[in-house]
Amino acid sequence: MTSGLEFRVTPATPVPAAERAKLIEDPGFGKLFTDHMVTIEWTEGKGWHDAELRPRAPFSLDPASAVLHYAQEIFEGMKAYRGRGGEITMFRPEQNARRFNESAARMAMPQIPEDLFLEAVEKIVAADRDWIPDGDGSLYLRPFMFSDEVFLGVRPAAHYIFCVIASPVGPYFKGGGKPVTIWVSDTYTRAATGGTGAAKCGGNYAGSLIAQAEAIRQGCDQVVFLDAAERRWVEELGGMNVFFVMDDGSIVTPPLGTILPGITRASLIELARADGVKVEEKPYSFDEWKADAESGRLREVFACGTAAVVAAIGKVRFVGGEFSIGDASTAGPVTQKLREALVGIQRGESNDERGWIRKIA
Ligand code: PLP
Ligand code: COI
Repeated sequence: MTSGLEFRVTPATPVPAAERAKLIEDPGFGKLFTDHMVTIEWTEGKGWHDAELRPRAPFSLDPASAVLHYAQEIFEGMKAYRGRGGEITMFRPEQNARRFNESAARMAMPQIPEDLFLEAVEKIVAADRDWIPDGDGSLYLRPFMFSDEVFLGVRPAAHYIFCVIASPVGPYFKGGGKPVTIWVSDTYTRAATGGTGAAKCGGNYAGSLIAQAEAIRQGCDQVVFLDAAERRWVEELGGMNVFFVMDDGSIVTPPLGTILPGITRASLIELARADGVKVEEKPYSFDEWKADAESGRLREVFACGTAAVVAAIGKVRFVGGEFSIGDASTAGPVTQKLREALVGIQRGESNDERGWIRKIA
């Protein structure tokens, strides 16, 4: 895969192999970083230029850089896996490239050719392949773009930096796959119609942190947001989409619009439908959720995303109470089956009928 843009390559002095091996034994999530990064610049009138694979290092930013004031910043999250046979694969990376450009369009930022996005990601994966943990771990890739034009006027910037960094990761939730507990925010919302909810921009996460902090204070793992207009309809978690499994085997998930169009979400919908499961993308209210959990009509709930993969939700807390789903301590059969189907494809252990896997040379 080449984009036509020449990459300058400055190899890093790598972390010694023994030290790296020790670091990635138990990497946690997003705390460790590899030796390299990719940077590419964009200038109005010139387009993309100065593509580089180079040692990971801090940026030098002018205090008037636009991103520091008006938050023109977007990102992606994707993973590279090492299969049992040693081959390195990625899961639907072209979907991340596409969504990155959708986020860019919403934030009045430049489009990056998909080939260039993919080449940048592949370059760092290839350079830092020894950082990919074995077993359940993976290399989390974080492509992002921000405005660094030096000015204080409010308008789209004329200069941007695209960058990819990589982080060896283990499971997002500690707890060995035990169902997580989530907090329903009745105070804060994440996105409104016409807003930026469907874009993967840093600002969405900045606005979610106070609710996430409240969730932690309430003894929960994640926050779930309701819609901004009526505070009634379930939207998504701080960093994951959500699915509901009913007693007739059918699945409900909130429709697109103000939520992030998750690639895991879309993949699970496709896998479930191919398995004959009825999946409805339709509004589902918090009141229905509570009533269905209490009546037993709701059998399983799970969160999904690149970082979290598929995580069962066992308990739901809200102002004034809490309820459980199923026995609250084990992931239900539908959740487990979907998780296994997805992970099997992602790790190259099952047949990739849909062409979702991209091998990295
Ligand atoms: N929703 C939010 C707010 C997220 O941050 C993420 C993670 O990227 C997702 C959903 C899931 O998206 P994906 O499956 O593409 O990782
Ligand atoms: C991801 O799943 O890639 C995200 O960006 C979500 C975040 C919780 C790490």
